Amino acid sequence: MTINKRFLLARRPNGAPVADDFTLVSEEVPALSDGQFLIRNRFASLDPAMRGWMDDAESYMPPIPLGAAVRASTVGEVVESKAEGFPVGQWVTGLNAIEEYSVGVAGGFSQPIDVSMVPSPTNFLSVLGAVGMTAYFGYLEVCKPEPGDVVLVTGAAGAVGSLVGQIAKIKGASKVIGIAGGPEKCARLIERYGFDVAIDYRGKSVDQLTAELAAAAPNGVNIIFENVGGDILDAGLNNLAMNARIGLCGLISEYNNAGAKTGARNVWQLIVKRASITGLLVADYVPRFMEGIVEMAGWMQSGKIVFDEHIDHGIDNALPAFLRLFSGTNDGKMVLAL
Ligand SMILES: NC(=O)c1ccc[n+]([C@@H]2O[C@H](COP(=O)([O-])OP(=O)(O)OC[C@H]3O[C@@H](n4cnc5c(N)ncnc54)[C@H](OP(=O)(O)O)[C@@H]3O)[C@@H](O)[C@H]2O)c1
Repeated sequence: MTINKRFLLARRPNGAPVADDFTLVSEEVPALSDGQFLIRNRFASLDPAMRGWMDDAESYMPPIPLGAAVRASTVGEVVESKAEGFPVGQWVTGLNAIEEYSVGVAGGFSQPIDVSMVPSPTNFLSVLGAVGMTAYFGYLEVCKPEPGDVVLVTGAAGAVGSLVGQIAKIKGASKVIGIAGGPEKCARLIERYGFDVAIDYRGKSVDQLTAELAAAAPNGVNIIFENVGGDILDAGLNNLAMNARIGLCGLISEYNNAGAKTGARNVWQLIVKRASITGLLVADYVPRFMEGIVEMAGWMQSGKIVFDEHIDHGIDNALPAFLRLFSGTNDGKMVLAL
């Protein structure tokens, strides 16, 4: 009998998730039907978006049902199979859940991967996974960079932001400014990811951030890759160049707000600067992922981009590991080893 530890959503969080919102259960792995295969999940991706999936609110995906395992991308190995193309030993990645075993189906969400191509299978959750593709397509397709652009990246030391800053440099940005929390992350922006300017947002008002950004970009920024929202977006809006493009990737400062969202207050500046703001969703680019994976893998191999992964261990640690995303105590792509 194979036992499957699973991390279930027991109730919808009100604000920041707490232990009572989840249950850890041990269940027997179900018998496979024809066309199915059993995945031993080795790593689960912990993403800020999962917080939104826990709410019963209209989104680009249905909410995680109560009593179901918390939805997450995973990488793992096929350990039993009744499906052609998914032999035992094949590594796969796909949208599964925080659970030790998932049942996959041929033609479903899990795709075979060649883990010999990369230093670690976790790379398929970071630089070559949804995070890397968000940075790649979000920056190139939504922000539409031009050589010489001055670029602002918020949440800059994180998984998506650190890659965006590096892609911006590759694509000819004249200056890349990153906003992150704390002196260590700001040092990493400059020393490891090659940003030109790092601004520490912690403890600063919109006015202070506006002034620091104005000093860094006296003629305004041409692109904002926005991961955070709230005060940080407001300071960015105060520093737009004419015809600036804002790629709205995320609003992490708002995900745990139990009541009303903070919102951006300086949207008037979009009129003043004839600027545009465009929401982006990585799922729209799934049919083009191979294009992004090939180019990102090339940049990795030639040393043009570096990336970091923060791996916590054990399904028992799923909640504290997930909460790192909101306290900023993750140093790179947050992954849970199962
Ligand atoms: N649209 C899409 O398709 C898509 C896909 C993937 C990710 N995203 C979005 O991209 C953003 C980054 O995701 P990620 O996976 O790369 O996570 P991440 O940046 O690796 O981790 C989250 C980081 O956000 C910062 N943060 C958390 N709460 C904050 C707050 N209240 N104010 C300011 N900063 C805060 C923290 O960094 P500091 O220590 O610097 O504060 C934290 O380390 C998220 O908004 C996510 O939802 C969107």
